[in-house]
Formats: sequence, C-alpha cells, structure tokens
Amino acid sequence: HPPSSQMEETSLLGRSGCRAKGGTPGFKVAILGAAGGIGQPLAMLMKMNPLVSVLHLYDVVNTPGVTADLSHMNTGAVVRGFLGQAQLDNALTGMDLVIIPAGVPRKPGMTRDDLFNINAGIVRTLCEGVTRCCPNAIVNLISNPVNSTVPIAAEVFKKAGTYNPRRLLGVTTLDVARANTFVAEVLGLDPRNVNIPVVGGHAGVTILPLLSQATPPSSFTPEEVAYLTERIQNGGTEVVEAKAGTGSATLSMAYAAAQFADACLRGLRGDAGIVECSYVASQVTELPFFASRVRLGRGGVEEFLPLGPLNEFERAGLEKAKKELTESIHKGVSFIKS
Ligand code: NAI
Repeated sequence: HPPSSQMEETSLLGRSGCRAKGGTPGFKVAILGAAGGIGQPLAMLMKMNPLVSVLHLYDVVNTPGVTADLSHMNTGAVVRGFLGQAQLDNALTGMDLVIIPAGVPRKPGMTRDDLFNINAGIVRTLCEGVTRCCPNAIVNLISNPVNSTVPIAAEVFKKAGTYNPRRLLGVTTLDVARANTFVAEVLGLDPRNVNIPVVGGHAGVTILPLLSQATPPSSFTPEEVAYLTERIQNGGTEVVEAKAGTGSATLSMAYAAAQFADACLRGLRGDAGIVECSYVASQVTELPFFASRVRLGRGGVEEFLPLGPLNEFERAGLEKAKKELTESIHKGVSFIKS
C-alpha cells in the first residue's frame, strides 16, 4: 500500500473516475519501463495529456531523474517515480491504465522473437504486479514480441483469476501509423487524412495492412501493393538498421503509444465511436489472439469489428500471418503453463 503521504495527495486529486479540479476527468496512468527509449518520450506525452491526473513512472533504473525532469512541466498530471521491484506494487496501486514498454529492443539482424527469452520473464513479473494491485486496469502491452507477450499476460491473469480479455490490449498502433504515412506518401495525401486498417499481429508477415479498405477509398497498382506491404511489414527493421545497434523505434513508438493510450482513456471516459486496431483476445478468426479493429469504451474492448472483405492478395497474406501467429501464441502460452 502507498505510504500515507501518497494517500493524502491522492485524495486531494480525486479518485479514478471522479472529476478532478476544473471539471475534467482525471485518470491514473502507470508506465512500466518508463526510463527507456520509448518510456521517456511516452512519459512526456502522457504528462501532456489533459485526461491524466496522476502519472506513475516505474523502471529498474533512472526513474528519479526522469520524474524530476518531467515534474517541472506545468501540466495537470502529478508525476511520481518508482525505482526497482520493491516499489512495483506502489507504482501500480489504484491505476486505471498501465502501459508496458519494459524490456530489451532489437539490434540489427534480430527478429522480435529473438527478444522472447528476456522479455517474457519481464512481462510476467510486471503482470503479476497488475494482478495484485490494479486487476481492473486496462493494460497496453508494448514489449516485444507482442504476438507472444499478450498471450503471456493473459495466462498470468488467468492464473491469478483476474483475467478480463477486454482489458488486455497489445499495442499495434505504430503499424497503423506507418501504413498511413507510407500510403499518404504514395498517394500524395496528408497522412492525417489516411486510415489503413492493419490486422493480424505485430511482427513481419503477421503485420497485414488491408490496403483494399483504405480511407479515403483508393486503388493501388500491384507494384504499389507489393512495395507498401513490404515497407509496412519491415518498418521496424528499417529503423533498427538506421539506428545501427543503438535501439529500435522509440520516438514514433512513443507517439503511437500515446495516441493509443489516449484512445483508451477517452473510451474509459465514455466517448462514443472510438475505433483502433489492437492485438487482443479475439473471435474474429479461429485464432485465440488477433489484431483487428476494435471499439473502445468504459469496459476496454466493447466490440470487435469484422475483418471486412479481403482481396486475393490479402487472403493469401492472412493465411501466412495465421501460420506464424499460431506458433507465437503457443510459445507465449507454454512459457507460463510449463
Ligand atoms: P529500452 O531498452 O530503451 O528501454 C526499456 C526499458 O525497460 C529500460 O529503461 C529498462 O531499464 C526497462 N526494464 C528492463 N527490465 C525491466 C523490468 N523488469 N521492469 C521494469 N522495467 C524494466 O527499449 P525500448 O526501445 O524502449 O523498447 C522497449 C520494448 O518495446 C522492446 O521490447 C521493444 O522491442 C518494444 N517495442 C515495441 C513496439 C510495438 O510496436 N509494440 C515498437 C518498438 C519497440
């Protein structure tokens, strides 16, 4: 439990779902892995989000500095830092939304699956904390390989008896951001006006952009489809190679994660019509987990939107995606079960 000074401070700020000063709803958000390449810019963006009243920053290193730095921003959210596993429970108690970018990123030549051995254990430990301290929070999972870490989190929650599949969301927003950007480049449009559903998962061929469902409705030559699909699927690798051993996508990822978290918070607030792509427990296909468009609301995922009509190229892509996803899901589930 938080020390009494923290409790007092909390009660002044208003509890989750209550109206904070000024009549705006205030949500409590924790970032686990907050001192990392994604964590720091994500923490800054969440500190700027008017829906956030309390922001908890947890990591195994450097949170005091990041917290002191961000705490000088004159925005509404109160920032608190938590360092090391002994402080994990205090970081999580009372949270409405937990965002997890903890873990190691790729280096050139690595696949996301190469990260499994290290990140699986980190995600398990952090999700065990969620079951103890904020079992009803929405969880946004960023740590790779997302195709396996979401099933891992689900198994941890099931074991503890706290699993609510509608509240566990794998973050695939960066795939959508990339798809919108690259398609806008090809069509000569403003990327803010383009929307491409990206379904399947978050690794290589499991990333399946549905160009046939582009907004605004657009037609592409077979060459454009091949170029765009390849570039969207390998956008992460493009950044890993450009960073040449110093990390993977962090700034664009923080931006995408902040957008997704904001959508989750607007859903929690009760806003209507919030639709995002996310990798979730799903009945859209025969696979137990799948990324597709979902409608967000007070309960997390409130509706799974159907895949919609796929063309022949996309149907072939879907079969490839399912094959790899099946293995990644199995790997995650057996990590906890065995
Ligand atoms: P990073 O190495 O810069 O930061 C990771 C942070 O996690 C570090 O500050 C580290 O101290 C912390 N950490 C390690 N073990 C921890 C533990 N047990 N508890 C709490 N914190 C812990 O890595 P970066 O670039 O921020 O990437 C983080 C993760 O996000 C990676 O797994 C990466 O593959 C993934 N990622 C996911 C994307 C997506 O679209 N879902 C896109 C880009 C990256």
